[in-house]
Amino acid sequence: MRYIEILDTTLRDGEQTPGVRFSLSHKIETAKQLERLGVDAIEAGFPAASKEDAEAVSAIAREVRGCSIQALARCTKSDIDAAAEALRDAEDPIIHVFLATSPVHLSYKLKITEDEAIARIGEAVRYAKSLCKTVQFSPEDATRSDRDFLCLAVKTAIAAGADIINVPDTVGYSVPEEFADLISYLLKNAEGLSEKKLSVHCHNDLGLAVANSICAVRAGAIRIECAVNGIGERAGNASLEEIVMALRVRRDFNACDTRINSREILRTSRMVSSFAGYDVALNKAIVGQNAFAHESGIHQHGMMENRCTYEIMDPEDIGADKSTMVLGKLSGRHAYSERLETLGYALDPKGVDATFARFKEIAAKKVAVTDSDIRAIVNEYLDGIEGKYWIDTFQIQSGNHMKAMALVSLKAGDEIFTESAPGEGPIDAAFNTINRIAGADDVHLESYNLKAVTEGADALGEVKVKISSDRGAFTGRGVSADVIKASIKAYVNAINKWTRAGK
Ligand code: KIV
Ligand code: ZN
Repeated sequence: MRYIEILDTTLRDGEQTPGVRFSLSHKIETAKQLERLGVDAIEAGFPAASKEDAEAVSAIAREVRGCSIQALARCTKSDIDAAAEALRDAEDPIIHVFLATSPVHLSYKLKITEDEAIARIGEAVRYAKSLCKTVQFSPEDATRSDRDFLCLAVKTAIAAGADIINVPDTVGYSVPEEFADLISYLLKNAEGLSEKKLSVHCHNDLGLAVANSICAVRAGAIRIECAVNGIGERAGNASLEEIVMALRVRRDFNACDTRINSREILRTSRMVSSFAGYDVALNKAIVGQNAFAHESGIHQHGMMENRCTYEIMDPEDIGADKSTMVLGKLSGRHAYSERLETLGYALDPKGVDATFARFKEIAAKKVAVTDSDIRAIVNEYLDGIEGKYWIDTFQIQSGNHMKAMALVSLKAGDEIFTESAPGEGPIDAAFNTINRIAGADDVHLESYNLKAVTEGADALGEVKVKISSDRGAFTGRGVSADVIKASIKAYVNAINKWTRAGK
């Protein structure tokens, strides 16, 4: 049995999902949960990309133990310096340098020759190695690169000190047999590779990322880069939960497994989904709400006789245990903080107090406070602590014979800003008013989504908004039993992210 290493790139490639921006506290909570999940390495960010990215990598490097922490860098001295600095406190740091090797990237994106690319790879890997004991090199767009040139790039990186070679299918172009063949070809022809760690990083543009990763492992790769819920650039990365369960359930065929504690999968998936503001499809393999649901009478009958008729894994193996202790208005802080832990959150005492107070407010209005409600409460708290603006008061007037008008006051530190504005309805008026306060004249509302977090008439309403401007796209989320309040919270949350990006 071979053990395959899992590198999770949710916080780096996953954050490249359009509209997804994790806050610092989201990243720290996620990294701690990934540690509990048992990943071998976490790619925590791209420190040269922004001050926030560098801070997040440093914080994770300081706080997370028991797995390697990796940071991304282009082949430039300043990127590599930023990665090395951010990883300073990591127990087992890895600098990950990359350079594209395909003709289309060399000519149109980098505008350099193959010789120049080889020189850059050698120089960058050598420099990274002088600052960090483990260096990974990725030839970006490997699957559309000339195979002999790819071998030369890999050989150059190894000669300069690379310990891990990661082969990316950057645009999700490859198909399983072909990708496996590329891995075998590289192992045979790229000098020195068979003594190094061979990793793969597959994108999902053709829906083949998981299949390509598994086939690569069968061809000799020993490490897979993937992301929780398959999030990532465009159609995303190979999904961590699918890879882990495909290897575990089909150990008989693949003769491979990982060291992942699969019972942490569902918890991790739900945490990432709520931090990313990105719902998992109902029919998503392993973690979708329907992954273990049986609809037809024939299937239900089979399941009652023997669950193996229609289930190839036990829901408990991914942490979907059936015990649901219901919290309500009589629950105390102890039971509440235990539930936080069960859901995978490691809030400090201030965070527990703040969210417990909100829990009590909600419990006073609802029969039972569910796990989804608690996730929403924690999210709102973590979203809020890094925000500039907080809601102070709001008043909205609207009716069928009048233009809606909003009056909103937001707190920023010790100051209170008040504005009013009209709109095409109460929510539009509130958003226009918030734009006035924040000076967000060029911000557009791209999407607005309202849903009940849980079932029942007393469910909390969750609003998700997506706004955009030339600073990029930002999502925001707000939860309340009052739809207008949830909308204002969501919008302020998105505006806070927009404000941070303008610093
Ligand atoms: O998809 C890709 O090629 C990447 C590299 C940086 C590894 O994300
Ligand atoms: Zn990628």
